[in-house]
Amino acid sequence: MADPKENVQMEKIVSLCKRRGFVFQSSEIYGGINGFWDYGPLGAELKRNVKDLWWHAMTRQREDVVGLEATIIMSPAIWKASGHVDTFSDPMIDCKTCKGRFRADQTDEIPCPQKPSKCVNECHGEKTAPRAFNLMFQTYVGPVQDDSAVAYLRPETAQAIFAQFKNVEATARQKVPFGIAQMGKAFRNEVTPRNFTFRSREFEQMELEFFIKPDEAIEAIHGAVATVPTTGHPGEPQPNWGWQAWHQYWVEERVRFYEGIGLDRNTLAFHRQTPSELAHYARACVDILFKFPFSKRDEYGELKGEELEGIAARSDFDLSQHARFSGKPMGVFDDDLRAAWGKLPKEKADDLWRRYYDNRKGYLERSGVAPEAAAKQATDDANGLAKGQYVPHVIEPSAGVDRLILALIANAYSESSKTDEKGQTETRVILRFHPRVAPIKVGVLPLVKNKPELVAKALAVRDLLRPWMNVYYDESGAVGRRYARQDEAGTPFCVTIDFDTLGEKPELLDTVTLRHRDDGRQERLAIRDLVNWLLPQIR
Ligand code: GLY
Repeated sequence: MADPKENVQMEKIVSLCKRRGFVFQSSEIYGGINGFWDYGPLGAELKRNVKDLWWHAMTRQREDVVGLEATIIMSPAIWKASGHVDTFSDPMIDCKTCKGRFRADQTDEIPCPQKPSKCVNECHGEKTAPRAFNLMFQTYVGPVQDDSAVAYLRPETAQAIFAQFKNVEATARQKVPFGIAQMGKAFRNEVTPRNFTFRSREFEQMELEFFIKPDEAIEAIHGAVATVPTTGHPGEPQPNWGWQAWHQYWVEERVRFYEGIGLDRNTLAFHRQTPSELAHYARACVDILFKFPFSKRDEYGELKGEELEGIAARSDFDLSQHARFSGKPMGVFDDDLRAAWGKLPKEKADDLWRRYYDNRKGYLERSGVAPEAAAKQATDDANGLAKGQYVPHVIEPSAGVDRLILALIANAYSESSKTDEKGQTETRVILRFHPRVAPIKVGVLPLVKNKPELVAKALAVRDLLRPWMNVYYDESGAVGRRYARQDEAGTPFCVTIDFDTLGEKPELLDTVTLRHRDDGRQERLAIRDLVNWLLPQIR
């Protein structure tokens, strides 16, 4: 458990989120609905900024990634192939005394519903044996509610990318290695939603599936798979990278993304999944964690962090599953591989053939294919490799938007106290968002509101900035109060239009005071320079 001080910190964050319109409880006027949250005006802007930045970094700024926007409800066959119908479940137990329903692996942390301040173990009620509870939300498509109409709200955005892989490959003029990015809503019927928006039942994901050649193909083409250091960014992608280099690359690219929006490396932690934690098809998975106030502590007292994103090396499992279940080929043809294979010494070709065969057979057998059929299929697959064909492998950086929003708010939260001459202390909240994610980029404030020329000039400044960024015009109250309101909303800059702007000091005509949120510093800027000064800060 986090210690009480950290829970106080979380309480302050939750209260600020409501008070300033970042996050509201869904359906609050009807008592709320557990595990669902709405974003208010500031939260909606914050979230939009984060998603736009991700989309920009992952697709538009790259030559090798394209986007996809698929439906939330898809053929249920997709979830059969992916394994979600059969295995996407949490172990659930019931308490026979308090009637609470819990995840079997979390009973020492979950509040008892009858005594929310107590822990379930204090209830001491007898528990049922754990049983699997599938996390997918089920619905029916069409008017008849029978088994043939069952469908699911997607529990992840990833599967549509695999299902549409061939269509994208055929239309996007991309060759492996390349990626497909998608963001959007996903739904999981969590047994116990918790930690505010961190674990909710409706949430948003930002996922990339980056398709790469199998290592055997790289070896055939380039003679060997490149080795890269296991820490640090391995640099620009190289044609001879195998899955390990690509995996390391994506971990570091994603860390750079977080750093670029204000989450320094020291706010993050990393967890490399152990072999027993990895899914059977995965070769590696690194979780990027953020040290939330509610995170547990390790034996040295350090916050351990909770997952923001997992970067998994998923082998060729996903496309192979869809190939088997749909009966449609999911492989690609690679000219370079075909040409290179013809020139391989026999010993090398045999070695690569055998390794590819073993991998494919292993996958097929683990997926329940009988050994004889698996051997036959693996032989066909390895013969295909020798002719330039393979099922791409994939590296999957998969991030949760809502937990990132919460991390950004927790990271930005700070308090500043001032004691006045009467000895009264006032504590103010400042959200120190990176300007790129800040919901409002600039507050535009006329010094006073009862001077029409000042107001007109301030409105002109607002209209000048508006096409470029989110601006908030505020004329009510003392200017100090207005700065404080913007600090609490996380607005990095305020511009104040005063009498000098109107030319009271002629040399200051058409200049404004620009105030920095984090240190209160003020500087004078010409109105005509504002856009060019602000844009590099916020993009
Ligand atoms: N696609 C991985 C996940 O949803 O966690």
